[in-house]
Amino acid sequence: MRIMRAAFASRFDDVDPLAALTVGEQPEPILPHDDWVTLRVTASSLNQHDLWSLRGVGLRAEQLPMILGCDAAGVDPDGNEMVVYPVVPTPGDPRGMTILSEHFPGTLAERVAVPRSNLLPLPAGLAAADAACLPTAWLTAWRMLTAKGRVADADAVLVQGAGGGVATAAVTLAVAMGKRVYATSRDATKRERVAELGATAVEPGARLPERVDVVIETVGAATFDHSLKSAAPGARIVVSGATAGHEPKVNLRRVFAMQLEILGTSMGTPDELATLLTFCAERRVRPVVDSVVPFSRVGDAFARLHSGAVFGKVVIDHEA
Ligand SMILES: NC(=O)c1ccc[n+]([C@@H]2O[C@H](COP(=O)([O-])OP(=O)(O)OC[C@H]3O[C@@H](n4cnc5c(N)ncnc54)[C@H](OP(=O)(O)O)[C@@H]3O)[C@@H](O)[C@H]2O)c1
Repeated sequence: MRIMRAAFASRFDDVDPLAALTVGEQPEPILPHDDWVTLRVTASSLNQHDLWSLRGVGLRAEQLPMILGCDAAGVDPDGNEMVVYPVVPTPGDPRGMTILSEHFPGTLAERVAVPRSNLLPLPAGLAAADAACLPTAWLTAWRMLTAKGRVADADAVLVQGAGGGVATAAVTLAVAMGKRVYATSRDATKRERVAELGATAVEPGARLPERVDVVIETVGAATFDHSLKSAAPGARIVVSGATAGHEPKVNLRRVFAMQLEILGTSMGTPDELATLLTFCAERRVRPVVDSVVPFSRVGDAFARLHSGAVFGKVVIDHEA
């Protein structure tokens, strides 16, 4: 059995997820089916999902150790540079699918096994480190704006919690699509940075100069009432996460009187990821990268994400 370096959950810790992270050696992945291949990972990026896994959300003790990581770019067995689509059909899971690191080992390793059809070509002009930011947070933001939010029909967009990976993606993409974008953050430095991306930055709860047609919600309880109050008649409030609590109070009178749509979404399709990759390559849109950390210091990368200070994606360089 060949071994490789990997970052994995060796136990669960709800209070201190960083204590449940181990960086060490794991067996190289076994291909579970004939149509699976092994990718040599060159770059990956972290998501809140990785911290939730360390807390034990979505994993059972008998699945440990579990290699973490949903996002990656790398080189396939034929030498082609590819990007990983992280959603894998999983019979037996109630959703019919899982995301890498939930059932199958994740991307924070030298190698990851995936169905061949989960590999998309890295477009010319896009660096592997940038592409490794796109498959989870950016794909989620893309679907929130396009298929769910129907942003093509919108003039103005509100993005709550401007520092997160999904939020910075939504701001960047909506600005690139020519929309008026408002973004909230509790933090003055993050408000400055999101303004540099082209958004009008406001404090959480602040009255906007206009009502918006699409709201991008990943914060949850702390911002949901503001999302409802900021929505124009017929607006779409699209939810893909609830970092600050999943049980907000919802003013239903406002929902029906303003004919609002509250839409849940998770990830996106392989075709949507391919469209997003092309959009970024052709429009020269690049992900907002908080920091690039060598794999040898992957623990520091987790600590940075856990600190809440990140602005954009934390990228792991697997070749350093
Ligand atoms: N469904 C999917 O497919 C999918 C994919 C990716 C992510 N997600 C989910 O989406 C959520 C966002 O993830 P992310 O990695 O983009 O960002 P994140 O790191 O979870 O942060 C999002 C923002 O939440 C705000 N926030 C956090 N705690 C808060 C509090 N107590 N009060 C007010 N605001 C608070 C922060 O805004 P400020 O500091 O700027 O105020 C932060 O920038 C997560 O829950 C994640 O699990 C879902």
